Amino acid sequence: MAATQSTPAVRRPRTLDDVPGWFPPLDQVLFDWLLDRQQSAGMRGDLLEIGVFMGKSAIFTGQRLQPGERYTVCDLFEGDAPDDANKAESAKSYSALTRQAFEENYLSFHDGLPRVLQGPSSIVPDEVPAGSCRFVHVDGSHLYEHVYADIGAAHDLLLPDGVVVLDDFRSEHTPGVAIATWEAVINRGLRPICLSTQKLYATWGDPEPVQAELLAMVRARKDCHLSVQQAAGHRIIRLKAKGTQAPPFPPSRHGDSIPAEPAAPASPAASAARPARPKAPRSRARRLAADVLPPVVTRAIRNARRRAR
Ligand SMILES: C[S@@+](CC[C@H](N)C(=O)[O-])C[C@H]1O[C@@H](n2cnc3c(N)ncnc32)[C@H](O)[C@@H]1O
Repeated sequence: MAATQSTPAVRRPRTLDDVPGWFPPLDQVLFDWLLDRQQSAGMRGDLLEIGVFMGKSAIFTGQRLQPGERYTVCDLFEGDAPDDANKAESAKSYSALTRQAFEENYLSFHDGLPRVLQGPSSIVPDEVPAGSCRFVHVDGSHLYEHVYADIGAAHDLLLPDGVVVLDDFRSEHTPGVAIATWEAVINRGLRPICLSTQKLYATWGDPEPVQAELLAMVRARKDCHLSVQQAAGHRIIRLKAKGTQAPPFPPSRHGDSIPAEPAAPASPAASAARPARPKAPRSRARRLAADVLPPVVTRAIRNARRRAR
């Protein structure tokens, strides 16, 4: 579908925090550190993100693009998913998404767009040259067959010491990503660099030099839990946020011209991830009533109370 299709009004972001999405501060720290490390080591290569949603991680990653490098992103946006399961997932979690919303968000922070591929991620290998990328973020479909193929594409598109990041590799609702991820580690030569709560960072190169530097970086910080384990011959560096601050990120071009408003939750899943508001403790009489009265009566009392509020 055309990028210019009319869409519901999108709130213009003043800061990256205003862009709906799923990109926690610790992952921002890790993206920043890994991309910066590649740059400092003189590594040049293209960037790729599969699954951009409203652009949160894409906007962040685009900030690290160096002269001469290309940045490609791929998403279904409002287009058709390749199969029913993918269609259902998109309708449930990303119904507000349009290409226009992504592009407007992106252009709020950058002067130009990345190359935008609209369609299923299976089109990526025909569009991005093999061996051209230094960093690939796989954050699209959560279905096993798609993630399996995305990992295969990342393998072919990455430079020898390039980094792939696999999102949602252990979320409760994404077993297909978990299976495809650990299968790649066990059978397809993928070597973990580290894990955050949400993402696995890995390479088909040698993870040891980057792991050594990463450990030094993390040990010098006080805002990140660290544990190091061995599993199936792999060193697994597990990181967990401890009040981690996101790296500073320049404000959008809208700056202070728009009054601050809290970002809307990205989806029911995002709202579900938020800590629940603490409930007032129930009195002893209410606890007792809940224990002895039939559920239909307790429900009626609750509804009457709610109506009275
Ligand atoms: C979890 S969201 C991406 C989050 C985003 N990276 C961020 O920072 O907020 C997943 C995205 O993948 C897209 N997607 C789902 N299935 C896809 C497929 N088969 N090919 C390409 N993109 C897909 C969805 O449209 C959605 O925008």
